[in-house]
Amino acid sequence: MKLRILTHAERDLRGSLDYLWPQFMAHDQVVNTFWPRLYEFFPDFQFWVVDGRETVGYACTVPVRWDGLAEPRGIDWALSNGQSGEPTTLCAVVAGLQPDYRGKGISAVLLRRMTALATAHGFDAMIAPVRPTWKERYPLIPIESYVKWRREDSFHYDPWLRTHERIGGEVLDPAPRSMTITGSREEWEEWTELQFPEDGDYVVPGALATVRFEGGVGTYVEPNVWVRHPA
Ligand SMILES: CC(C)(COP(=O)(O)OP(=O)(O)OC[C@H]1O[C@@H](n2cnc3c(N)ncnc32)[C@H](O)[C@@H]1OP(=O)(O)O)[C@@H](O)C(=O)NCCC(=O)NCCS
Repeated sequence: MKLRILTHAERDLRGSLDYLWPQFMAHDQVVNTFWPRLYEFFPDFQFWVVDGRETVGYACTVPVRWDGLAEPRGIDWALSNGQSGEPTTLCAVVAGLQPDYRGKGISAVLLRRMTALATAHGFDAMIAPVRPTWKERYPLIPIESYVKWRREDSFHYDPWLRTHERIGGEVLDPAPRSMTITGSREEWEEWTELQFPEDGDYVVPGALATVRFEGGVGTYVEPNVWVRHPA
């Protein structure tokens, strides 16, 4: 393994990494509207992890104007309202590694790199609406409860929140509405390969909360957790 982290300004590696998310995650309108601008306007703020010639991970950040409140709309806030005014803070919006590269501490290196970038640009902190990786195992538990779960050694129960904490991140309040994904019954059936024969709340693999169907329209509201890394 010979890993390097490159910025998007150094190399455009879009399209070279497998999609790492449940398919329905690709359908948040705020994210989809903003996404091309991330690479166009902030190429120095986007990272690719490469192993030799293979792209094995990525992380994206965006400068935001932040007043210190844990915005309930997390990622959707960072890519909309968070863009108004002079930026104060760097916000991480995504980090992902190919499965073979997980559990090796690479994500901590990425987080440190993002925090260093915040410092280099004079921002006060690197913040992140974190998608807790084990929350999908507990889709019925409110995020406000899950965020309090700790192990006996006092570290967070969730592995990804634990990694953030280990390198100095402070867990703030949840972002209960970080992303909102809406689709027709047919769209959800295509995205999940499940059937949703009637209205109601459904547990869907990869979702951190249930998907609610009303009038044949399915809505998923993704809960995340804000973490702050001082610059
Ligand atoms: C989130 C992500 C980048 C974190 O990277 P990671 O490599 O799993 O993180 P770490 O190496 O810090 O591992 C965190 C913990 O999980 C354990 N772990 C994770 N994957 C593991 C694996 N495949 N095998 C063994 N242990 C693993 C680590 O040992 C560590 O546990 P510890 O705290 O007890 O030491 C990665 O899991 C990922 O890409 N997930 C899918 C996309 C995602 O959900 N991204 C988050 C969006 S904000």
